[in-house]
Amino acid sequence: MKALILSGGKGTRLRPITHTSAKQLVPIANKPILFYGLEAIRDAGISSVGIVVGETANEIKKAVGTGDPWNLNVTYLPQEAPLGLAHAVKISEDYIGSDPFIMYLGDNLLRSGIKEFVIEFQKNRPNAQILLSHVKTPEQFGVAELSGNHVIRLEEKPKQPKSDLALVGVYLFDSTIFNAVKSIKPSKRNELEITDAIQYLIDKKFSVTPHIVNGWWKDTGKLEDLLEANRLVLESIESFNLGHIDSATKVEGRVIFEKGASIKNSIIRGPCIIGEGTQIEDSYIGPFTSIYHHAELKNCEIEHSIVLEYAQIKNIKRIEGSLIGQNAVILQSPSKPSAYRIMVGDSSRVEVP
Ligand code: G1P
Repeated sequence: MKALILSGGKGTRLRPITHTSAKQLVPIANKPILFYGLEAIRDAGISSVGIVVGETANEIKKAVGTGDPWNLNVTYLPQEAPLGLAHAVKISEDYIGSDPFIMYLGDNLLRSGIKEFVIEFQKNRPNAQILLSHVKTPEQFGVAELSGNHVIRLEEKPKQPKSDLALVGVYLFDSTIFNAVKSIKPSKRNELEITDAIQYLIDKKFSVTPHIVNGWWKDTGKLEDLLEANRLVLESIESFNLGHIDSATKVEGRVIFEKGASIKNSIIRGPCIIGEGTQIEDSYIGPFTSIYHHAELKNCEIEHSIVLEYAQIKNIKRIEGSLIGQNAVILQSPSKPSAYRIMVGDSSRVEVP
């Protein structure tokens, strides 16, 4: 069995972060989202992984390399344009050959991994197995209509969803899917939809089995989902400390201090994670916050947020529900006139009280 991870796409819903960085590499609890997928694939006993890459190919290659740290054998499959998930399958046919495979969207996170689904697929050998999850906003996903344990119909982002069962971004296929992806036409958004390819299998009476996911699942394509995924992962961390915490600092709850993190005169209330070489002084870091490596926070309060590497936040009260990009600087300026002075990237969003 092989794995196919889709790591292309433009990440338009996460701009401006994705102007400079791949959405699959945004860290959740200080680990790139994509690495959770690689771990899940390894833990399911799969070692051959094809990663479909687009514009951000170089970055993904730099982060994952040959796959050695996970004992995986990684092959990169360039997709010349983001023409849809089914198009990604189409260009991967030579790599996959006649093996069954799991397709994993690189920005998806599943609490319980994928081992259980792989075992079930190998036991029952349907032509396709789809994972489904009950959601509050099915219109934002592919939606399945079931009758008992049968999939009757799938629809991509329907205006009037027939159920609250969203298609999770993890699919198991045998090689019949290659005929399907070659037979369908582009959708309204001009993409070859995997949802349509699976519907093709259903129409042609191939076996498509559903599996409803019990643990949490997150598609991290939007800020609020990213923060929610960060919260969910931090819920289950165990404390450890490889940093330096002075005696004036108070640590409450579960907190990870990575190598060389330095904390002075602050309150750190977990669950949260403070990255390698990050410096925090006279500050409050509240629950569900991940601060990546080499950031600098001084005299500020922050919670339920993600701060990326080398960001600086000084004399700011207070930040919540935010994603602060690499090298971003947020500070209170002493110079007059006292006003907001802002240089934000295209498609940025700033909310002030
Ligand atoms: C894609 C699929 C959709 C699925 C979702 C899961 O949507 O088209 O059917 O529910 O992934 O993450 P996209 O994120 O490309 O809009």
